[in-house]
Amino acid sequence: MEAGTQLAATFIAAPSIYAVVAELDGRVVGSNFMTEGDPIRGIGPITVDPSVQGSGVGRRLMEAALERAGDAKGVRLAQDAFNARSMALYASLGFDVREPLLLIRGTPRSGPDLGVSVRPMTAADVDACTDLCTSVHGISRSHELQEALRVFTPFVVEREGRITGYLSAATFWLMNHGVAETELDMRALLAGAGALSAEPLSLLLPTRQANLFRWCLHQGMQAIKPMTLMTMGHYQEPRGCYFPSVLY
Ligand SMILES: CC(C)(COP(=O)(O)OP(=O)(O)OC[C@H]1O[C@@H](n2cnc3c(N)ncnc32)[C@H](O)[C@@H]1OP(=O)(O)O)[C@@H](O)C(=O)NCCC(=O)NCCS
Repeated sequence: MEAGTQLAATFIAAPSIYAVVAELDGRVVGSNFMTEGDPIRGIGPITVDPSVQGSGVGRRLMEAALERAGDAKGVRLAQDAFNARSMALYASLGFDVREPLLLIRGTPRSGPDLGVSVRPMTAADVDACTDLCTSVHGISRSHELQEALRVFTPFVVEREGRITGYLSAATFWLMNHGVAETELDMRALLAGAGALSAEPLSLLLPTRQANLFRWCLHQGMQAIKPMTLMTMGHYQEPRGCYFPSVLY
């Protein structure tokens, strides 16, 4: 209850997040959120009061968000893969199933790769990180990176004096997205960020990156739950290694 209230209060107060509620007889029975800071809109979390689930409230809340998204470049979300109702609802609204994801958590047991530099991101790195994201995904997330610098401790990995990967919120998977030029950059980034973080790493790994998945398991990371990345509108197959936040 406390965690839900805190999350909702933070999202409602954020100027770049659209928030909508559903009312039934003057009572709030559902809510939905959508980030609007960058070109791709990210939907979630959506919740409907259990006593009225399955009666059309979720569809209305999703339609409200999509109407607001208008002709945005794209809209994305990650859904709990075991939730047949939400997957069917989002697909019927026009979202495509894009990637199987797995929430994983742990600190890579190998420790940092001493030949590679991993360090906290600074404001001066945002442009390079935005360029990297654009080259991998064809979209920028600079607003989100600025927010991550304010609220979390994002990390970058450098090779030959160049940023070749970053992640935005090492220990908070909901808001943690990452990109890297290569799988080796991503491994070094995860190993370094794990060594520099007091808590275990947590992230939504796209499991079709089979080698990286096996590396994470070999490093002792635990699988928590499966999710699905769903997208509407613009989508470019990633040209590099990556993992999405719960938004995209
Ligand atoms: C997921 C959630 C937001 C959906 O809202 P809801 O009000 O229950 O859903 P709705 O009644 O509006 O829509 C469900 C749709 O899926 C369809 N559906 C449900 N189960 C289905 C199934 N097994 N197969 C196919 N379609 C199914 C329904 O027929 C309905 O479609 P319709 O609008 O064409 O009739 C809500 O159930 C919820 O809050 N769940 C708990 C929290 C959660 O899981 N959040 C989202 C995480 S991804």
